[in-house]
Amino acid sequence: EFDTTRDIQKTFGIIKPDASHKKEDIFERIIDEGFTIIRHETMQLSRERAGEFYKEHEGKSFYEKLIEYMTSGPIVVMALCKHDAVKEWRKLMGPTNVDDARKNHPTSLRAIYGKNMTNNAVHGSDSLTSARRELKFFFPKLSVEPSLSNQESKEY
Ligand code: PPS
Repeated sequence: EFDTTRDIQKTFGIIKPDASHKKEDIFERIIDEGFTIIRHETMQLSRERAGEFYKEHEGKSFYEKLIEYMTSGPIVVMALCKHDAVKEWRKLMGPTNVDDARKNHPTSLRAIYGKNMTNNAVHGSDSLTSARRELKFFFPKLSVEPSLSNQESKEY
């Protein structure tokens, strides 16, 4: 049952403004799925911080909408730990497109709590490299070692 081929990892997640009032339900689900919530903090993201966090998407058609939305209310930032956490958290989130999530992954968080492509309830790091950057961005004092140290080159 305990798969030793998969390493314990840390990943980063956000409960987005429209779902942050459901924080307790979402925490319960996350724990039920075998994650440890190492840190969590409710905060208001400034435009400046949001722009820095999402700078890889600057110039994309949805960028302004995304920044507008992510600064529209409180968010909950989380450091999560589990075997294969990066992939497992993306799986629990479900696809970016909520219609797709509802149709094909009805038990995913986006299917349950998401409303549309913009208001899609949660964010998660898409690779170990992003997890390291995003964890450092929001939890500068949290160690990302040793979980990520020997796996920096592994991408998903
Ligand atoms: S990409 O270009 O493949 O990296 O984009 P994707 O991973 O699908 O999405 C990146 C983040 O942008 C959000 N997104 C949108 N926001 C508003 N409107 C539209 N149309 C839209 N499309 C994508 C998406 O929810 C991702 O947000 P995060 O916070 O990273 O989950």
